[in-house]
Amino acid sequence: MWLPALISQRIADMQAKGLKLSAEDIYSVNQASLKDAVVLFGSGCTGELISGEGLLITNHHCGYSQIQRHSSVEHDYLRDGFWAMNRGEELPNPGLTVKFLERMEDVTALIVDKGVSAEDLIRQATAGGKGLKAQVESLFYGNQYYLFVFREYSDVRLVGAPPSSIGKFGGDTDNWMWPRHTGDFSIFRVYADRDNNPAAYSPDNVPYTPKRFFTISRAGVKEGDFTFIYGCPGSTQEYIHSEGVRYVAEISDPAKVDLRTQRLDIQSKYMSQSQAVRIQYSSKYASVSNAWKKWQGEMKGIAKNNVVERKRRYEAAFEQWAKGTEYAGLTQKLAALYAELEPYNFAREMYQETAGTVEIASLAAALGRAADEEARERVRASFYKDYYQPIDRESFIAMMTEFGRRVPAGLVPAYYKDKLAQHGSIEAWADEIFSGDLGAAAEFSNRFTGWYREEIYPQVSRLNAAITALYKDYMRGQMAFEPERSFYPDANLTLRVAYGKVSGYAPADGVWYYPYSTLKGVMEKDNPDIFDYNIPQVLRDIYAKGGYEDVPVCFLATNHTTGGNSGSPVINADGNLIGINFDRVWEGTMSDIVFDPEICRNISLDIRYMLFIVENIGKAPHLLAEMRFAD
Ligand code: ARG
Ligand code: GLU
Repeated sequence: MWLPALISQRIADMQAKGLKLSAEDIYSVNQASLKDAVVLFGSGCTGELISGEGLLITNHHCGYSQIQRHSSVEHDYLRDGFWAMNRGEELPNPGLTVKFLERMEDVTALIVDKGVSAEDLIRQATAGGKGLKAQVESLFYGNQYYLFVFREYSDVRLVGAPPSSIGKFGGDTDNWMWPRHTGDFSIFRVYADRDNNPAAYSPDNVPYTPKRFFTISRAGVKEGDFTFIYGCPGSTQEYIHSEGVRYVAEISDPAKVDLRTQRLDIQSKYMSQSQAVRIQYSSKYASVSNAWKKWQGEMKGIAKNNVVERKRRYEAAFEQWAKGTEYAGLTQKLAALYAELEPYNFAREMYQETAGTVEIASLAAALGRAADEEARERVRASFYKDYYQPIDRESFIAMMTEFGRRVPAGLVPAYYKDKLAQHGSIEAWADEIFSGDLGAAAEFSNRFTGWYREEIYPQVSRLNAAITALYKDYMRGQMAFEPERSFYPDANLTLRVAYGKVSGYAPADGVWYYPYSTLKGVMEKDNPDIFDYNIPQVLRDIYAKGGYEDVPVCFLATNHTTGGNSGSPVINADGNLIGINFDRVWEGTMSDIVFDPEICRNISLDIRYMLFIVENIGKAPHLLAEMRFAD
């Protein structure tokens, strides 16, 4: 996850591994470079430009909410897909933006030595340019500051999306897993005013002309090929203390997984009884299940790799080295603060995963915040459209039982104890909460929020601030302790470059996974009776004509990625687009804390599957005609 502006420090290694580009091809502020073809898509994904007329590609799951918003019973674009057959049919998406990085700059000296404020830097950087946005980010726990200047475009229209049975093929069953057969892409177009500047949506806007867009390679990938990824990874913690890792893997993840297993079981019980409930809860289920599955992979990976023990040995060696220096004793101080933090942090997480998931309580809170009756009506309508009370009630009982069992006794709110004493059981308390009158739900929400704000949050934030201050020194200490090691700053949703190679892996003893999947595998999974594996009939018909077995679908590589890298361009040694990143393998999800090249793999859509789907399912040759091909 290297900083693009410092890619010259990595370029020799990248070239030794196969890259044929120069540092200036990847990142330059003076000439068009690949960075100009990459955007932060919305608030948490990556996208890339693939034509001279503003065409952009990202994941299906990144465009999901836009596709859903344009869908209705008559036009169900989630189910059937959507293809604009001309520019006039492209659909605007109020609120959706893309951000191009103009430049990034080390401002540590300005901030630390000269005392310039971040606000001043931002004001200067954004003065006089249309759509300019800037932010100052701390890297390496406050040891460095970078200014990032973006140009934000806000007229971004939906152009194409496959049916979910392709774009989300395998659903939550295959999520985080290999072998994978998901066609996880959607296509948008960036629009600009007549001077190519950012502008709010207008029918007069014209397609944006990018400084640079990706050329697509159809040559395919093979094991060992060099690849790199440009994108916006959200968050990693590669340099944390063993106690931080132990908390994640042994305390937090197992508890949260357990709670979510119960909620998912309740949801799927009702979803399997009714198609209407399945539709209502499919998106909720997907988001509960996504982290649930990732955490299981993460805790297993950390245990299997002995990460806590390895970090402890590292800390012992660090302290040995640090004797008599300014760094001595840092790891012990961190351990002591982590011990103090643990009960509060755990109470915070248990609150979020229990009381924080009661749907009727969030409705009551949202109604309380709404400005007027009209706004309240909107809140009610959107809430009840996707609400099934038996699920919420059963979850409430399960989650409140767990809350009482898991939160340290001294931290349990008086309100919780009073309610149990008053009703005698959580079931009876549920009768009050779900009586139909929202008063009890509103009280529930207020009392829990008040408890959290007064008794938990102040402790968590005080201790976290102290921990972060120590990390600033510990980070510098680690760099001094290992002068030969190359450190990259933890991910923070700013643009990064990761590189690696196409590679299979061994998920378990005696098992080897090849790094590619094909349409043959889609057909092997196809099953009209299983929701996640029921492909569209048109795909079956095409396949039946013969000759499509080897159509490539997904591939694996060793690039270090995380959430936010969804939609990132996967690029070959010549700088051409070969895939779109969308996931990692389950066994390697501990890479947010420790990256193990043996087992950590990113999963990409093979760009040729996108071409196949646009041609055969979308029947949209005009889109292919816009793209540029290397071969
Ligand atoms: N695991 C991927 C990510 O973290 C994909 C999630 C969307 N897909 C799904 N089946 N829920 O975002
Ligand atoms: N699916 C993730 C995303 O939405 C990327 C997978 C990962 O966490 O690596 O960003």
